[in-house]
Amino acid sequence: MIADRARLVAVHEALLGWYARNGRDLPWRRTRDPYAILVSEIMLQQTQVERVRPKFHEFLACFPTFESLARAPAGEVIRRWAPLGYNRRAVRLHAVARTVVERFEGRLPERAEQLRELGGLGSYTANAVACFAFGQAVPVVDTNVRRVLGRLFADLVGLDPPGGRSLERFAAAVLPADRAYEWNQALMDLGATLCTARAPACPSCPMALACVGRPLLAAARSRPAQAAERRATYTTRPPYQRSNRFYRGRIVDQLRLLEPGQSLSLAELARAVGPDPSSKDDAWIADLVDGLRRDGLATIVEDQGETWVALP
Ligand code: ADE
Repeated sequence: MIADRARLVAVHEALLGWYARNGRDLPWRRTRDPYAILVSEIMLQQTQVERVRPKFHEFLACFPTFESLARAPAGEVIRRWAPLGYNRRAVRLHAVARTVVERFEGRLPERAEQLRELGGLGSYTANAVACFAFGQAVPVVDTNVRRVLGRLFADLVGLDPPGGRSLERFAAAVLPADRAYEWNQALMDLGATLCTARAPACPSCPMALACVGRPLLAAARSRPAQAAERRATYTTRPPYQRSNRFYRGRIVDQLRLLEPGQSLSLAELARAVGPDPSSKDDAWIADLVDGLRRDGLATIVEDQGETWVALP
């Protein structure tokens, strides 16, 4: 199902006009360097724009090209990734840089399918790089864009559509092929600033007249059962401070403090990051460290009956 031509033209004009006047001035929008754009998109996957901004500049100052990143030891890249978290992203980015240098003479391929074949880039990142670095007319559908499309075209895809192939096909069909870059960035900006998940600013939205979701959203948000359900979703998550991800992050933070070549014993690590400083739970820390090793975030050496851990 697809929107008719006149409706699409009106939606395109309204959103692109708004973006021309109100688009955010973000550093990765001032470049078309495929490497810098790849770095930004991997950073932005799980981290907010304002936290990415300074790190983007710092990381590029350290590793300005695919070649410089590929040459660096993985441990150095992981060190320089702090404090962004989700450290596996640093390992993936580093691996992509090595592939690009070894197999593609340091130049990223341009099409989304080729980018996916590099390994390490999901469909979202491949499309983002294909569009933002190479101007390809492909949709870029992250959580914000999914929400905005669901609202704008609620009659066609539903107010809260599932992500996946079907929505991606829809996003491709409504994309203005000659303005793909601006359109995709504009959808992201609208989702980040006005068409937010929790407090959509419909009265000041440039899309209000064209948006089918606006009245549906107002009705859905005033239903008490759904409001209660929304609240419940936020309160039943396990606390982050006790999650594996939290302890993995703390372990990597400890390893970052080491000089290259130094390592920490499992017992020292357990003391530094453990939930209880007197805890002697070797199995718990050993499992976490082994997970980090499998993800390329740690190396483990057995020496004289002790287990030693370091960055790779
Ligand atoms: N999130 C992911 N990619 C983005 C981009 N290019 N601009 C703003 N936010 C983003």
